[in-house]
Amino acid sequence: MARIGVIGTGYVGLVSAVGMATLGHEVVGMDKDEKKVEKLKRGELPFYEKGLGDYLREAMERGLLRFTLDTEEAVDGARYIFIAVNTPMDDDGSADLSQLLSASRSIAKALKDFAILIVRSTAPVGSLEAMAKVLEVEGKERGRDYEIAYNPEFLREGTGIYDFLNPSRIVVGADSPEIAEEVMSLYERINAPKLTTTIKNAQIIKYASNAFLAARVSFINEIATLCEALGADVWDVAKGMGLDPRIGRQYLRPGPGYSGPCLPKDLMALIRMSEEHGYFPSFLEAIHLKNESQKRRIVWKVKEALGGVFTGKTVAVLGLTFKPNTDDVRNSVSIPIINRMAKQGALVKAYDPMGGENAKEIFKESAQIFPDPYSALEGADAVLILTAWDEFRGLDWDRVRKTVKNPFIVDAVGLFRDKGLEGWNVWVVGKG
Ligand SMILES: NC(=O)c1ccc[n+]([C@@H]2O[C@H](COP(=O)([O-])OP(=O)(O)OC[C@H]3O[C@@H](n4cnc5c(N)ncnc54)[C@H](O)[C@@H]3O)[C@@H](O)[C@H]2O)c1
Repeated sequence: MARIGVIGTGYVGLVSAVGMATLGHEVVGMDKDEKKVEKLKRGELPFYEKGLGDYLREAMERGLLRFTLDTEEAVDGARYIFIAVNTPMDDDGSADLSQLLSASRSIAKALKDFAILIVRSTAPVGSLEAMAKVLEVEGKERGRDYEIAYNPEFLREGTGIYDFLNPSRIVVGADSPEIAEEVMSLYERINAPKLTTTIKNAQIIKYASNAFLAARVSFINEIATLCEALGADVWDVAKGMGLDPRIGRQYLRPGPGYSGPCLPKDLMALIRMSEEHGYFPSFLEAIHLKNESQKRRIVWKVKEALGGVFTGKTVAVLGLTFKPNTDDVRNSVSIPIINRMAKQGALVKAYDPMGGENAKEIFKESAQIFPDPYSALEGADAVLILTAWDEFRGLDWDRVRKTVKNPFIVDAVGLFRDKGLEGWNVWVVGKG
C-alpha cells in the first residue's frame, strides 16, 4: 500500500483522502485553513457530505489517515502527492491558477525525495506546464525530482464518497504510460472502467464532460421555455426523451439554470481556453447564454406574479444551495436571482434546510435568512422555490396560506409539477 499526501482538503481533497485511506493507503491530508484542520483532527467534517464522516472516523481509527497544517509533514515519505486546491473562476471567466501555483511552490520547497504530483483540481491545458515552471524556479527538475499526472475527479457533491468508491470511470493522464499506469494502480481495488491517456486529453475529458452536462441542462431549459409558449409539459417531454438509451435521463431536468462550484466555471474556462487558441466556440457560448437568460426568466416570472413591480414587495425564497443534500451555496443560482430581485426593490426572506449558515455570509445585504421555513414565508407576496429539497413538498401549505399576502408560488424546480396545491396559484417551470 502507498503513502499519499493530499494538499487541500476541501470537497475533492477530503473525499480523495478519505477514499484513498479506505482503499488501504496511508494518507496525510494538509490544508492551510486552520479551522478546517482542527475540525478534521477531531474527526469532524468541515462541511456537510452524506456518509463521509463515518468513513473519515473509521480511516482515522485504523491509523491510515491524519491531518496537518504543515506541507513538509504531508509530503515527507510520500511517493504520491494529490493536489486538490481550488481553481475558481477569474474575473474574465478563465481558471484562476493562483492556489495551484502557490501549492506547487510549497510542495517544491518541502520535496526531498522523488514524488509523483497528481493534480485532482480541474485545471486547464497549459496549467501543469505553469506548475512545472514554479517547481523549476525552486530547483526541482521534472523527470528527476518529480513527475506530474492529471487525475480529474468526477464526484457529485452530496454523494462524494459513494462516487469516489463507485466511479463511472477513472481517468489518468501522464507524460508516459508507465507513470499513468503507476498512478492508476492506486485504484487497484476499485472496479470501474479505467482510461490512461495524455495529460492534455485527460484535462479536456474533464472540461468537455462538464460542458456537456451544462449543455444538457441548457437544452432542456430551452425546450422548457418552448413548452411554456406552446402549452405543453416539459416534464413529460423530458421523460419521453430520456427513455431513449441514446439520450438517457440524467441532467435533463428543467430548472432555474445550472449552477454550483463546477459547471459554470468549467464551461467558462473551456470557452476562454478555446479563445486563447484562436477559436470562438459559439456552441459553448450558446450554452452559457441560455443559462443566463433562464435566470432572468425566473426573476421575470416572480415580477409578473407581483403585478410587475418588486418595490415594496416581499419575496420568500425556499432553497439557496445549488442542489439539494448539500450545504454548498458557492456560485448557486440563488445568488444572482436574489441579488437581482433585491436590487429592484424586493424584500427577500429566505430559508434553506442546510445552507442557511453559509448563505448568511453571501446574502448579507440582499436577503434575510431564517432558521425555519414558516418564518421565511410569513407575509410573502410571492414564494419562489429555487432548490428541489423534498422538505418543501411536505410543508403545511394550508398553514402557510393563512400567513402570506398572496398565494402565488413560482416553482422553478418542478416540485409541484404533478400535483398542484389547493388554494395556491402555482407556476411550474416548463408547463404551459
Ligand atoms: N466540488 C466539486 O463538486 C468538484 C468536483 C470535481 C472537481 N472539482 C474541482 O476540484 C478542485 C477543488 O474543488 P473543491 O470544491 O474541493 O474546492 P474547495 O475550495 O472546497 O477546497 C480547496 C481547499 O484547498 C485549500 N487550499 C488552497 N490553497 C492551498 C494551499 N496552497 N495549500 C494547502 N491548501 C490549500 C483550501 O483551504 C480549501 O480547503 C477544483 O478545481 C474543482 O473545480 C470540484
